[in-house]
Amino acid sequence: MTDLRERVARELLRTRQRSTVLTEAVDDGDLIRQHSPLMSPLVWDLAHIGNQEELWLVRDVGGRDPVRADIDHLYDAFKHARRDRPALPLLSPREARAYVATVRDKVFDVLERVPLEGNRLTEHAFAFGMIVQHEQQHDETMLATHQLRAGDPVLAAAPPPPSTVDVSGEVLVPGGPFTMGTSTEPWALDNERPAHLVDVPAFFIDRAPVTNAQYAAFLDETGAEPPLHWSRDPGGWLATAFGRTAPIVPDAPVVHVSFPEAKAYAEWAGRRLPTEAEWEKAARWDPATGRSRRYPWGDEDPEPHHANLGQRHLAPAPVGAYPAGASPLGVHQLIGDVWEWVDSDFTPYPGFAAFPYREYSEVFFGPDYKILRGGSFGTDAAACRGTFRNWDYPIRRQIFSGFRTARDRSPGELA
Ligand SMILES: [Fe+2]
Repeated sequence: MTDLRERVARELLRTRQRSTVLTEAVDDGDLIRQHSPLMSPLVWDLAHIGNQEELWLVRDVGGRDPVRADIDHLYDAFKHARRDRPALPLLSPREARAYVATVRDKVFDVLERVPLEGNRLTEHAFAFGMIVQHEQQHDETMLATHQLRAGDPVLAAAPPPPSTVDVSGEVLVPGGPFTMGTSTEPWALDNERPAHLVDVPAFFIDRAPVTNAQYAAFLDETGAEPPLHWSRDPGGWLATAFGRTAPIVPDAPVVHVSFPEAKAYAEWAGRRLPTEAEWEKAARWDPATGRSRRYPWGDEDPEPHHANLGQRHLAPAPVGAYPAGASPLGVHQLIGDVWEWVDSDFTPYPGFAAFPYREYSEVFFGPDYKILRGGSFGTDAAACRGTFRNWDYPIRRQIFSGFRTARDRSPGELA
C-alpha cells in the first residue's frame, strides 16, 4: 500500500475506535433512547455513519453492490428530523454494529484496489477523507448527546493541561488583504474553497476565548440566562459535564452559549464578535510572509501540544494552556477547546462550486445559520483546519460553543 492508502487506513481505524468508545460506553437502552429532542438516538448516528460510508465508498467509489439499500431512507438526515428518528424502524444496536463492520470490510477492500487519481472524488483519497470527517463530526455530535444524557458518568479522560502563560488583553491585527479559504488543502470541503483575497481593515481581537469568570461577571450584572448545564449554588456557579457536577473553572473558556448570548456579552463588554474573515485572518495570516498558513502555529498537522482537540480531555483547557499553538500575532487557542461563534452568516465564497453534492453545504447557505470556527475539545484534528467552517442555528447551545470578542481600531489609535 502507498503512504496515502496507509494514512487513510489509519484514519479510518482511529476514527472507528472513537465511535466504538462512544457507543459502547452505554447499554442498549441508552443507545436507543433519545436523550434530547435536539439529538438522534446514538444508535441512529452509528448506523448513519455506516450508511454514508456505504453510499460513498462502497457504492460510488467502489462500484460495488449495495449492502443494505433497504435502509437508506431511515438514515437520510434530510428525510427525518432528529426528533422523529426514535420512532423509525431503526437497526437494533447489534444489527447496527454488524452493519458498520460489514461496510468497513468492503471499504478496506475498495481502498486496496481503487486508483487514487483520475477523478476528483478519488484524487488524494478525497472521498475517504470526507467519510473520515463525517464520522468524526458525528462522533462530536454523539459526545454532545453524552453531555445531554442524564445518569452516572460513563466517559473518562485526563484533565486538560493548566495555564502556563498570561493571555489577557487583545492584539491588533493590521489592516490589508489576506488569503481566505483554500484551493490546495486536499481534504478541505467544498465550502472552504476556493482561496480568495479579502481586504480586512485593522481590528483588535481577544488573545483568548471569553472565560467562565468573565461570563459569570456578565451574568451577575445583567441577570442574563446562564449557559446550558450551569446551575446556581450558594457558593457560586456549578457546571455539569458528562455526568459530573463541579464549580466552574474560572479561567476556562465558557462553553454551551448561543450566538445571541455571545453577542449580548460582547455588547455588554463594549465590544463585538469578530467576523468570519477577521477570525480567519487572526488564525492564519503570517505578517512576516503575508501568507496564510494551515493553522495558527504553522503548516504542521495538530499535535497534542498545539491544541485541545480529539476528545483527549472532556473539557476546554484554561486560557494560556497552549502557548505552542498561538498565532504569530499572539492569539491563543483559536483551534480546539471551544467552537467560536463569529458574526457572519453561512455564505459561499466567491467561485464556490458544490462538491460532491449540493446537500453537503449549498442547501444550508443563507441567513438561517451562523458560523462557528476553530473546533472544540470534542473535534478531531481530521475535521479541524484554519479554513474549516462549521454552521448552526444561532439559538443552539448543546454544541461545544464559546466565543471571543473583537473591536474596530478607532481612528488614529495605535497598537
Ligand atoms: Fe451525517
